Amino acid sequence: MSALATRIENQAGRSLTAGEIFEITRAREKSLSHLLILYITTGLVFMLLPGTFLGVWNLLAISSHHATNSVSAGWVQAHGHAQIFGWIGTFILGIGFYSIPKLRRMNAFALWAPWTCWALWTSGVTLRWLTGVYQWQWLMLLPISAALELAAFLIFFLSVSGHRPQDAGKGSLEKWVLVVITASLGLLATLLVNFGAALFLAVRGASPDLPAGFDQRFLVLETWGFLVPFVWGFSAKWLPVFLGLRSIHERSLLGAIGVNLIGVLTAMAGWMTLAAITLCSGILISTWALRLLEPAQQPAKTKGVHVSFPIFIRLAYLWAIAATVLGIWASVVRDSHGIWGASRHALTVGFLATMVLSVGQRILPAFSGMRLLFSTKLMFVSLLLLAGGCLLRVGSEILAYQGFAAWAWSWLPVSAVTEMTAVSVFAINLLLTFVSTPPSQESQ
Ligand code: HEM
Repeated sequence: MSALATRIENQAGRSLTAGEIFEITRAREKSLSHLLILYITTGLVFMLLPGTFLGVWNLLAISSHHATNSVSAGWVQAHGHAQIFGWIGTFILGIGFYSIPKLRRMNAFALWAPWTCWALWTSGVTLRWLTGVYQWQWLMLLPISAALELAAFLIFFLSVSGHRPQDAGKGSLEKWVLVVITASLGLLATLLVNFGAALFLAVRGASPDLPAGFDQRFLVLETWGFLVPFVWGFSAKWLPVFLGLRSIHERSLLGAIGVNLIGVLTAMAGWMTLAAITLCSGILISTWALRLLEPAQQPAKTKGVHVSFPIFIRLAYLWAIAATVLGIWASVVRDSHGIWGASRHALTVGFLATMVLSVGQRILPAFSGMRLLFSTKLMFVSLLLLAGGCLLRVGSEILAYQGFAAWAWSWLPVSAVTEMTAVSVFAINLLLTFVSTPPSQESQ
């Protein structure tokens, strides 16, 4: 009898038939899938309205006034927080909870952890957005929002920290797990700094907006210190199989994490040129370690997704490299607001959003109850529009904001609407997948 079956019997306090054990296991799998769907749908809502809609609104204002300071810092920061924590952060928490085998072994009551985490996280991110946009009661609500996010993460951290992957060798964790642990520590550091900053702003009492210099460094922590290592960890776990890659250079990937950490710390210290060069070295090492740009060993597994999937994954990594090259450029010239913006956008949309759209549409249908992606064509459309919109935005942001070409201001709204269409198509494709009937239930 399997360890899982024995544990279920111990919880029931009697021996069970094979049929009963199957039913209990199926019911638990179903509640985990429902939980995952809740997290992913919440992430999609944050992405669409507080995130993308506000981002497009900001960009329309900037391009109509031909001035980056025509929107309030609070609105820009509210948009960024909704995208990074509300969208991608919620996705990561949901996938993290879903992937812990421990939850499959526990009784239904033990699912309190993911539900409580969801309630705290969602309230924290929502409150943060409201304080940024409306500033209502912000002296009290800003620190509360940061505390709620921190509390949610601690519940997540305690739940996953006891988890040892079943396939780990004796005494050693798989390297991708180490990378994900580093990313989780990056998220913890980000939330602690966020909490400290919220307390500081509340005590000072002048404004809920982060000062520009601090915000720029904090952005490096939340992107390179938290999101990028998560993407590397999940890339190491899934991409060799999905793309048929050669075995990854595991030690080099850990080396890339070390270099990346130095880059983040250097940025926090304010040495931006050195930080950008170090982050560039880190992403180059990780791309090499994952062997993404070498010929594949096996054909890519594209069943159920669009055949272009491997191209977009590689494109995402090229965007991350471009982001660091733009960062080096921005750090050595004066008044480089547009180049910084282009660098940040190449990373957030070119790398992070492209990875979420590609890998998300590859894994989430199966995680949500062995469903099939609603449409592989919509997947392609979403990725193509995102790539086109990102190229347009990165290019026109440098040309317009830096004063190289005035006509580029009129391209910015086109890029915003193209990207908004891309992420909306992605959301529609996933939501239609979640309401579809899994093939295993079609004949019942
Ligand atoms: C439809 C797509 C998007 C549009 C139109 C958009 C628009 C904007 C605009 C106008 C800014 C202000 C600074 C600037 O002019 O560059 C900005 C900043 C930012 N965006 Fe976006 N964005 C989009 C997607 C995303 C995504 C997908 C992410 C993250 C995954 C993201 C994260 C950020 C962050 C972190 C900032 C900086 C916030 C700060 O300064 O604290 N954006 N975005």
